[in-house]
Order: sequence, then structure tokens, then C-alpha cells
Amino acid sequence: MSARSFSAEYKRNPQPMQVGLLGLGTVAGGMIEVLRRNRAEIERRAGRGIDIVRTATRNPSKPRSFSTAGIPQPDGDAEALVRSPGIDIVVELIGGLEPARTLVLEAIRHGKHVVTANKALIAMHGNELFEEAHRRGVIVSFEAAVGGGIPIIKVLREGLVGNCIDSLAGIINGTCNFILSEMDLRGGNFDEALAEAGRLGYAEVDASFDIDGTDAAHKLAILSAIAFGIPLQFNRIYVEGISGICYDDIAYARELGYRIKHLGVARRRPGGIELRVHPAMIPIDHLLAGVQGVMNAVLLHGDAIGPTVYYGAGAGGEQTASAVIADLVDVTRTLSSRHGDRVPYLAFQPDSLRDIPILPIAEAETACYLRLRALDRPGVLAQVAGILGEMDISIEAVLQKEPMRGAQHVHVILLTQRVREGNMNRALDRIRGLSSISGDIVRIRVEPLN
Ligand code: HSE
Repeated sequence: MSARSFSAEYKRNPQPMQVGLLGLGTVAGGMIEVLRRNRAEIERRAGRGIDIVRTATRNPSKPRSFSTAGIPQPDGDAEALVRSPGIDIVVELIGGLEPARTLVLEAIRHGKHVVTANKALIAMHGNELFEEAHRRGVIVSFEAAVGGGIPIIKVLREGLVGNCIDSLAGIINGTCNFILSEMDLRGGNFDEALAEAGRLGYAEVDASFDIDGTDAAHKLAILSAIAFGIPLQFNRIYVEGISGICYDDIAYARELGYRIKHLGVARRRPGGIELRVHPAMIPIDHLLAGVQGVMNAVLLHGDAIGPTVYYGAGAGGEQTASAVIADLVDVTRTLSSRHGDRVPYLAFQPDSLRDIPILPIAEAETACYLRLRALDRPGVLAQVAGILGEMDISIEAVLQKEPMRGAQHVHVILLTQRVREGNMNRALDRIRGLSSISGDIVRIRVEPLN
């Protein structure tokens, strides 16, 4: 069949989609540029043009680092934009909870479809937004909220719908991965790497959201809801950031055959689902250990497909815009379909979400890396090993480092076998109480990812 005869059946919509853009930051700049550069190619796929017809931002006169040629000058009236009758889709790239939540709700109530990159908004208010959107028969798409440009939402909502998802583990914060990679590969300093991530536009406006694990937890809330058909439950996630990781741990991990990554983990267990975000040691030869810099990767395990990995840029203007534009095209293509026949917001039909219990962190099970500062004298290691033994925690490996000249303490590193978190907490309380142990004990969970 020739391209011409095939196209004879198809009637192109001559009216471009009318897009209102909220926010003019890094991702908006990427979106404007990519829509301009790839206009013809995107139109060939969407079946009609996609035009930005109105923009609003808090500070319209602020100088931008990108060209806004060809798009309307921004104004400060976001409320008018979301109510404007001429707009089909509102793209929300403001970030943060307010005013984004109010504006998105208002857009939905005015019958607009919404595309957003706002992970905090979806993780914290998604249940409410989807309910309202469902009532109004409009689409809310959020591919760019997780994994930057990686189409991981589409994978879970569409590509893997035949699977029962058993687990997922992801490097889902580009800033944390950038910092850990700089420390590991170049011996870089934490603060310098964080400042660089800020300069490159990877970090959140408040970078503590990146380094304390909040941003990754927002993303894990979204991924886990779509993977398991559960409501969004950000507040049930156990969260640790990377500020406690120091170069010594990175180096000792390497000696033991591991690399430290900041992971979001969701795992189905017989009694419920584990949801946790924390630094983890993963085998140095695992695919995820090779994910460096701002790159993200998500490892999914489905019962039919087995393990499958998705890799790409986790942050950045054009990279994230790639996902925003994919949503714009998706919305454009599905406008003529019945609302009930569209892909559900959270992959599962709204009346089929289940309240599967989220397990408390004390019930999580992982192997552990422990670093202790122990007095350099006979019997100390035996005391520690004794406590672990009494708690039924088996030791897999031990490293003892030379004391620094004149120092009384040495670093002792222990790798345990898989242990229930609650048990490990009790053992650590007892070890902390030993007079031969000084300072805090570093605990990093080990994820074999197998
Ligand atoms: N601050 C985020 C990150 C941006 O570093 O991953 C992308 O969500």
C-alpha cells in the first residue's frame, strides 16, 4: 500500500491544538525550542498542529535564557489563562504545590485537558485532581513528572499492562545521582557537585527536596500507584536522602564490589508493599550501577516480561520537554475518544484501585552495610559480632581499616545477610550502647537487584 492510498481515509484536523503554558522556566524553554524545531515532525504524528497561544508566569519581564520568539508575550494572569475559552490544553510547568494545584483544578473545572511535569503536585494531590478530572471528562497527563525524558509512565500504563508488576527500583533523582557520581568517579566534593547540579538546572528550586529524598519519594509515589493499582501514598513512603553519605563509604563499597546509588524501591511482598527511598549499595556490575551523572534508570520486574530496564536523562530542559510534548501529542490523538475508553490516569480503572497495605519500614528486608568507629583493642569486633549473632543476623563480610596515625579508633565495616529492618534497628541500638563504639553508625541497605 502506498503512503498516498493509505492516507486517503484520513482527514486531518486543520485547527491546531491551542495550548496555554503556565511557567517559563527550564522545561518550558526546552518545550518552546523543541516544538519550534520539530514542528513538522510532531504535526505529522499528532495529525494537527500544536500552538502555544498564551503564556503566563509570575514574573513576565524576567530575562530568559531561551528565545521566546514566535510565542505570545507572557503575562502575569495565570487565572485568566486557565479559564480562557480559546485554550484546549493547559501545560503546567510552574512546579510546587501552590498556586499549581489551584490553577490545575480551575483548568479542569473549565474543561481543559492538563499536561504537567509537576511530581509534587501529582504525588500529593493527584487523587483529588484525577477525581475532578474524571468527573469533567478531561485528561491529566504527567509523563514528565518521573524520569525526565524516559517514557516510564507510558511503559507502566500501556506497554506492561499484561504483567503483574512484582517490583521496581529506580535511580529517579538526577541531582542525587549527579552528586554521587561526581564523588565516586572524580572524588568530587558534595557541596561543589550540588552547586554544579543547580547551575545545570537539574536541582529543584529548593535543592533540599533533591538531597533529602523528597523528590524521589514524589516520583516513587507515582510509579508505585501505576505499577500496583493503589492510590497515591506519598506519606507512607520511608525516605532517606544522601547527605549522610561520605567518600569513605563510597570507597569501602567499591572494595566490597558495590556502588552507592540513591534508589526508590517498591516491592510486592505477601503482606503488602514495601515503599522506600534511600541510598543503597548495588552490585558494581549491575546495569544500574553504570548509570552516572544526571541519568536516571528504572528497573521493573513483571511476572511475564521478567526484568526490564529504562534509561535516559532524568532532568534538563529539552529532555523533560520531550515527555511534555509526548503528552501533548497523546492528548491530541485521544480527544475524539470517549473519556471512559482512554488510558486511565493511574493505569488501573478508577473503581479498581486497591488499598493494598503499605508495609512499615521495620518489616522491610535487606542486607546491610554497617560502618562503625570502634576502639582499636582486642575483643571489640567479637562484642559487635556477638550482638548481631544474638539477634540472628548473619555476617557476610568484615573489613577493618588501619587506624590513622595516633588515632584510637578504626573503621570497621560489616556486611550482613538479609535481615528484617526492625531486628537490625534493635541490634544497632545495642551496638551504639557499647563503650568501645564511638559516634553514629552508618547503615546503608544493600539491594542485589536480582
Ligand atoms: N530535581 C529533579 C532531579 C529534576 O534532579 O531529578 C527532575 O525531576
